[in-house]
Amino acid sequence: MESIKIKKITSVWIITVLVLFVASIVLGILMRLNQGGALNQAPINFYSNMTIHGLTMIGIWFVAGMAGINFLMERYVKTSYKANLTAFILTVIGVVMLWVITLVGKFHVAWTFLYPMPFKIMWAKWATPAFLVAMSILSIGWLIWSISMMTQILKKYSIAQAFAWQHFTKDPSVKTPPFILISMITLVGVITCLFVAVVLMALYFAEFLSKGSFVNDALLMKNLTYFFGHTIANEMLYLGLAVLYELFAEVGGKAKWQTSWYVALAWNFTLIFILTAFFHHLYMDFVQPEGFQIIGQLASYMASLPAAAVTVFSVWVAVYRTKIKWSLTNLLFFIGVAGWVIGGFGAVIDATISNNVVLHNTLWVPAHFHSYNVMGNVLFSLAFFYWFSIQFTEKVVNERLSKLVLSLLIIGGAGFLLAFYLGGADSIPRRYSNYPAEFTSAKPLALVGAAFATVYLIPILILFVTITKRCIKVLFSSR
Ligand code: HEM
Repeated sequence: MESIKIKKITSVWIITVLVLFVASIVLGILMRLNQGGALNQAPINFYSNMTIHGLTMIGIWFVAGMAGINFLMERYVKTSYKANLTAFILTVIGVVMLWVITLVGKFHVAWTFLYPMPFKIMWAKWATPAFLVAMSILSIGWLIWSISMMTQILKKYSIAQAFAWQHFTKDPSVKTPPFILISMITLVGVITCLFVAVVLMALYFAEFLSKGSFVNDALLMKNLTYFFGHTIANEMLYLGLAVLYELFAEVGGKAKWQTSWYVALAWNFTLIFILTAFFHHLYMDFVQPEGFQIIGQLASYMASLPAAAVTVFSVWVAVYRTKIKWSLTNLLFFIGVAGWVIGGFGAVIDATISNNVVLHNTLWVPAHFHSYNVMGNVLFSLAFFYWFSIQFTEKVVNERLSKLVLSLLIIGGAGFLLAFYLGGADSIPRRYSNYPAEFTSAKPLALVGAAFATVYLIPILILFVTITKRCIKVLFSSR
């Protein structure tokens, strides 16, 4: 039984994520309107908005996944409320700082803050050190939280059991729940990349404080930055999948999924390859040793394909020719898997070296990562939020609203993404605040993208209101 404290803190996480999500979507729509010529933002404002949009989106969907697995983990092991609360407090401090740094200080290095850009001051002078402090606060808060959850898993399961290695033998005596396996695999990746983030911040600080006597190696900094950024953006998807493995069958009224040898194998593969897939961000860095580029391509395939194959198989077996109880929760999961797979295909196409020569830094890049976020991971977490909100309040689902929500999500999401994909296929570069006249299709596509993103915003607002209302009830309830 979950404690009252975990219910309340999970409600606070959900409300915080939803508020920031709506604000960040609005920034996204403003960016597309500007790219379409309907708005005329100064470039510095466009890039400040782009920076905070990217940072916030990655941050909130990471913590949404963490809050989800933390809540569900209570079914198997006791988790630390203090670690959860500490992470929340540090997240609020970090996020408020980032919004001030970008919107007031006009810090605009994009969410990838590629070295040495943070030192090429074109914004308020205080913004660079404040940015480094904010990123350190966030990394440390999340590190404490993830280490604490991993420790709790290891108090109950041995290392071999947490990684489900006993499932490679016949009839294992201890069965590792898929939720524990995926959480463990993901937490190891999360801890590794957050640790790298702390090292990266230390190197930035060393150069900043040395006043020129210490200069970092640009290639090393880029490798570290992508090790952190690419990995955390991928791991957050797997947090969402852990939640899906735990809840999909349950809400459909079916028996819980079990770990089999191939599920264990696929997820162990994911652990290894997810940590090296980031090399595909450095294909255009010709000084990078060639072996790493080859590892980058192979790891990009191996990190996503096994996990995708077993998940799609499990979901398909669960629904094919079987009567299951459909609700908004498992429909969001189901559509999310489709969005994840479509985005994954887009990513694998881009991670293939011969294609990357053409697609590098075109709109294909935001196309694929928005696919597995906007129509993938976000839907996994929204499914959890929705499921959570009805656990402790009324359980009656308004079917008419569900249909409207799903239809608008699919229409808005698909149209918004298609405008990015078509732009990428037409070689339109990403991250342009205003497109030169030579890119004839760029502006109309941006306007189409803005219109569909607005359609996507409507169901998000409906979910925001319904879920938030219920979470507020949980906050004020004494049970
Ligand atoms: C309907 C909702 C959304 C809209 C309208 C939107 C819009 C945009 C736009 C216009 C860009 C700039 C594209 C370019 O020209 O390079 C962008 C970048 C980005 N978006 Fe979104 N987005 C949305 C949802 C999301 C979600 C859910 C995530 C992640 C979970 C996300 C993460 C990012 C990131 C990381 C960037 C890159 C920022 C950078 O280059 O520094 N977005 N988004």
